[in-house]
Amino acid sequence: MDTKYCEVDKNNISADIMAAAGEIIRKGGLVAFPTETVYGLGGDALNAESSKKIYAAKGRPSDNPLIVHISNMDDLYRIAEYVPPAAEMLAREYWPGPLTMIFPKKDIVPYETTGGLGTVAVRFPSHPVAQAFIEQSGGFVAAPSANLSGRPSPTTAEHVREDLSGRIDMIIDSGQCNIGLESTIVDFTQDTPMMLRPGFVSEEMLRQILGKVDKDPAVFGETITDALPKAPGMKYRHYAPKGKLSIVSGQAEAVAEFIAERIRNKKDGVKIGVITCSDKKEMYKGADFIGDIGDRNDEYTIASRLYDLLRACDEYGVDEIYSEEFDTPQLGLAIMNRLIKAAGHTVIKV
Ligand code: TXA
Ligand code: MG
Repeated sequence: MDTKYCEVDKNNISADIMAAAGEIIRKGGLVAFPTETVYGLGGDALNAESSKKIYAAKGRPSDNPLIVHISNMDDLYRIAEYVPPAAEMLAREYWPGPLTMIFPKKDIVPYETTGGLGTVAVRFPSHPVAQAFIEQSGGFVAAPSANLSGRPSPTTAEHVREDLSGRIDMIIDSGQCNIGLESTIVDFTQDTPMMLRPGFVSEEMLRQILGKVDKDPAVFGETITDALPKAPGMKYRHYAPKGKLSIVSGQAEAVAEFIAERIRNKKDGVKIGVITCSDKKEMYKGADFIGDIGDRNDEYTIASRLYDLLRACDEYGVDEIYSEEFDTPQLGLAIMNRLIKAAGHTVIKV
């Protein structure tokens, strides 16, 4: 398949390109599009065949449900059977934005879209190109992140091209995604709302609106349990680079010294990559790849660069990757959740 590639300026959105993209979706095709979190791979959420195509293009297991993207609040009530007042309060504060909420689904949403579940995940993104695209597409766009299953989520159109070129109809390029980590997911189908995936909207921000919030113990527990996460996607190894990634945890100086020592003593033929804040990168001369994730106090930049650096480790073909820990106030939980999964839970304490 020939994948059409279109650049769209988010401050001056081409109506022609949006109309063409919308037509592809309405005819059952697939279009990758930008959002404020990561690029999404869109198909018509109300068309079972489109959802099947999404799974096939990504190589994604079909029991892993898709998020339905909408472009206005009214459309929520066309696909959700029941929306509790607490969810409406949260929507008033954080929609449009990097927040996904789960509700019992209405019949018009096919089980192919929800991975066989009776619930539907819904998000109203804030990115202007995403909104225009959803509107032109009929209003309901099912979209997982636009990466091949198992690879880091795409934060640029170039990442999408690497993974999905030739497998989908169109890629809309609007530059780099602002946030760079997937949306926060909150499940409203239980008595107390439950956070299933951390993101830009932090636990503290949720508590301020909702009061009590539970966290899925299978995702947030201190120890790894055998319990299955409630968001099926969270059980898969994810975001993973090809090299062996280890997180080095401890006081910043000790961490830097440990990684520097690994570089000094590396075996012939072994390539080492490091993911580090700017202030420590001088310590790692001699590494085959030094991924500068930005200023230690700038958590927005750290979040937005993480996936690009994980992909860069693959490009440099490094065998071992050492990452510092990024335990920042608002986004730390989300950043470390992705990093720990990418590392397959390998944490070296120093
Ligand atoms: O920021 C985002 O959310 C991006 C952009 C494109 O919007 N999308 C995204 O989709 O991250 P995806 O498919 O990569 O992740 C969706 C997650 C998966 O872990 C999935 O299992 C969970 O949401 N999920 C979807 N529907 C669900 C449901 N009904 N119940 C529980 N978990 C659900
Ligand atoms: Mg994903």
